Amino acid sequence: MVANMAGLTPEHIEALKACGELNETAADRMIENVIGTMSLPVGVATNFVIDAKHYLIPFCLEESSVVAAASNMAKRCLVNGGFRSNNDAPLMIGQLQIMECSEPKSAEKVLAGASEELMALCNSLPSTMVRLGGGCKRIETRTIQTLSGPMVILHIVVDCRDAMGANAVNTMAELIAPRVEELTGGRVHLKILSNLAVHRLARIEATFTPEEISNDGTKANGEAIIQGILEAHHFAVADPFRAATHNKGVMNAISSVALACGQDWRAIEAGCHAYAAFGKEHYGSITQWERSDEGNLIGRIETPMAVGIVGGASKVHPAAQANLAILGVESAQELAGVIAASGLSQNLGALRALATRGIQAGHMKLHSRNMAVSAGAVGEEIETIAKRLQAVDGPKTQTVVEQLLKSLRSE
Ligand code: MEV
Repeated sequence: MVANMAGLTPEHIEALKACGELNETAADRMIENVIGTMSLPVGVATNFVIDAKHYLIPFCLEESSVVAAASNMAKRCLVNGGFRSNNDAPLMIGQLQIMECSEPKSAEKVLAGASEELMALCNSLPSTMVRLGGGCKRIETRTIQTLSGPMVILHIVVDCRDAMGANAVNTMAELIAPRVEELTGGRVHLKILSNLAVHRLARIEATFTPEEISNDGTKANGEAIIQGILEAHHFAVADPFRAATHNKGVMNAISSVALACGQDWRAIEAGCHAYAAFGKEHYGSITQWERSDEGNLIGRIETPMAVGIVGGASKVHPAAQANLAILGVESAQELAGVIAASGLSQNLGALRALATRGIQAGHMKLHSRNMAVSAGAVGEEIETIAKRLQAVDGPKTQTVVEQLLKSLRSE
């Protein structure tokens, strides 16, 4: 029906029907109104050593240069031991929005007094997470002023162990809502987790010497590049317009690794971007770069990372399972660190390129084959056009590619 309504060609229909590793039954179980599946390349980034453990990191995305840049930058901190992580426990926040409390401050007091009871109620949920030592660990309250009047906001802080935890947290929030209404005399409206997972931060740090950052192995060249990277970073810190693009580069890796590993990458993106503005005057950089007293470049990332290795798509998607097996992570916390390290590395790749020869040179080298295909090149033409495009001195636009194909075919 969809094919008829949209006037799809037989090629379109075949493309949607080709199920790949996710068969029709599995796809149909995952979402509604399934008409097909879509594939994206999975590539592995190399050279990643985090806390002395070596990783091959699967990325799933359509953009060229990303896997290469992440691998290249990861290599440059190997002499200093690679990446170091310091990740929070897997604590998620569930929010209850309490309206119509006649005295918000006394409602907050009542909730604080009933915290043991409310936590016990949350943890009465029959769940593996609770059996394994997770579950609700504390509650927090705030009163906020809104267009709908004052609201008491109750946070349940839940240790999700190796799960991302959305289902358990949402269920707990719904479970305690009637008791919260009794206690406060208010009306509980929304009951839902927050993606701004400020208690579930992944932290990664890495050190790069000028020699490793350089193009030619010299300290002087490396120092000049480090200076350029710092100037690029300061631009992102000061300007939300630049920060959005800077962070997009970070997310090129974070979202791709998350997707490859069957994570809810939209939840991760929401958390990362929200944290980039959290407690600040304006939205800024997800990463931090500075020069140490010894003249080395130090990179840091601290960002919410709500991921899981049990439950969700990580368990039902066969390719996600394979990618997690390649990664070899043993906990959600470990996965969080790997994803954050990939983001930091990716960001350095973009900043280093932007601060030196510009982004297009490297990007176009890998993208030229895609452009040739888009222009209609087939078979051996693709490689020939890609090579000729790289040799073009000047802008490498799609129009140029079309002209190259036209002249190749007239030879
Ligand atoms: C492109 O996908 C990502 C970059 O724009 C990131 C950046 O500007 O830092 C290159």
